[in-house]
Amino acid sequence: MKYGRIVGWGKYAPARVLTNDDLARMVDTSDEWIVARTGIRRRHMAGEGETTATMSVEASRAALARAGLLPQDLDLIILATTSPDYFVPPASSMVQDMLGAKCGAFQLQAGCTGFVYGLATAQAFISTGLHKNILVIGTETISRNVDWQDRETCVLFGDGAGAVVVQACDEPTGVLSFVLGSDGSGAQHLRVGIGAREVITPEVIAGGGHFLRMNGREVFKFATHVMGHAAAEAISQAGMTLSDVDLLIPHQANLRIIELAARHLGLPMDKVFVNIQEYGNTSAASIPIALVEAIEQGRCKEGDTLCLVGFGAGLTWAAAVVRWGVSERPFAMSLFAPIARARTQAGVTLRTAQTVAGMQVTMARHQLQKRAGKAVEVAKSAASAALLPLYTRVDKWHTRDKRE
Ligand code: COA
Repeated sequence: MKYGRIVGWGKYAPARVLTNDDLARMVDTSDEWIVARTGIRRRHMAGEGETTATMSVEASRAALARAGLLPQDLDLIILATTSPDYFVPPASSMVQDMLGAKCGAFQLQAGCTGFVYGLATAQAFISTGLHKNILVIGTETISRNVDWQDRETCVLFGDGAGAVVVQACDEPTGVLSFVLGSDGSGAQHLRVGIGAREVITPEVIAGGGHFLRMNGREVFKFATHVMGHAAAEAISQAGMTLSDVDLLIPHQANLRIIELAARHLGLPMDKVFVNIQEYGNTSAASIPIALVEAIEQGRCKEGDTLCLVGFGAGLTWAAAVVRWGVSERPFAMSLFAPIARARTQAGVTLRTAQTVAGMQVTMARHQLQKRAGKAVEVAKSAASAALLPLYTRVDKWHTRDKRE
């Protein structure tokens, strides 16, 4: 059997930052309340031109460069998100095109749990020998679906992206086990109420139906219960016990939820990675961003056992046990890595320029068509106005002839 080892990683956080004090100027809240109830101090907000696709590309470029791979080396791209650029097309295909990859790509929606679902899917493709290199991304531009007047939700969320390259290997490193769960009976507790069931109408928008709505207390109860259980199940499936776990990387939704889950598991907080203070809840991006920061801070050492665990809309939950092992890449490969990185970057810049140029041409064409259509309408009405006296005269003659 093949194992899916993580050989590349990258993250992207928008430069724009919203602090608790900024929020206190927008809604009836305070820094003290937010810190005490959630642990969040700041969150990053996508700026103009930044979307799920563009942030995914940034994180993916970093992950590919770290893996020493080119986009063309990828066999599959999985993008977990709840806030894609459009309903259709999937942002995954936009990312594939902007990267210049030549492989299948699909979008995965499992709420904040999406990245762990994506990792499990990558492992399934790899273990069967179907694919060798898979890019798994978790990205959110969730700030665009948040009601900035609803203090219960707007203080919680942030934007960002995280990506990993999962590569087939023979040694038991990478994803050793995973647990996926869903309980749709709790769907109403976390939802954006538009879609095929409730189509967008001016009334729906006026009622704020297009915003993310949440029953915070119910989600809190569900999360504290499910995080510990899912992690324990994945650890046991990997044939391990809690003492084998070196680092727990939980979904960063609320510091109190994380602390309660750790207590439930009997895991000390120094074995739990927390970065919620900087990013808030970035939904599907939260676990990959935390993983990348844990690696950057030297908290994932060769041979370490990591447990990733998340929960989210659906309601869903998932956990995965990962043995950290990025065995040294061959010398020749490390020599080529900077070249690969430069090629990736040049390719991305070109693709992005092409996409933007394509969009501008389409918009210009639409505007020209619109203007031409208007000109025809104006000419038609002018012609009708000019011909009206003539019609009237002809009609009069016609009536007179008939009478005579
Ligand atoms: N600032 C100040 N007060 C706020 C507030 C805010 N931003 N948001 C809510 N409150 C108020 C409430 O209105 C309530 O007031 P009341 O007692 O007068 O009715 C009070 O604070 C306590 O509300 P409560 O819901 O009990 O707070 P809480 O301790 O449960 O914290 C959440 C609220 C939302 C932070 C918490 O429930 C939570 O984190 N839930 C899980 C959310 C989550 O993880 N969602 C994403 C899942 S992927």
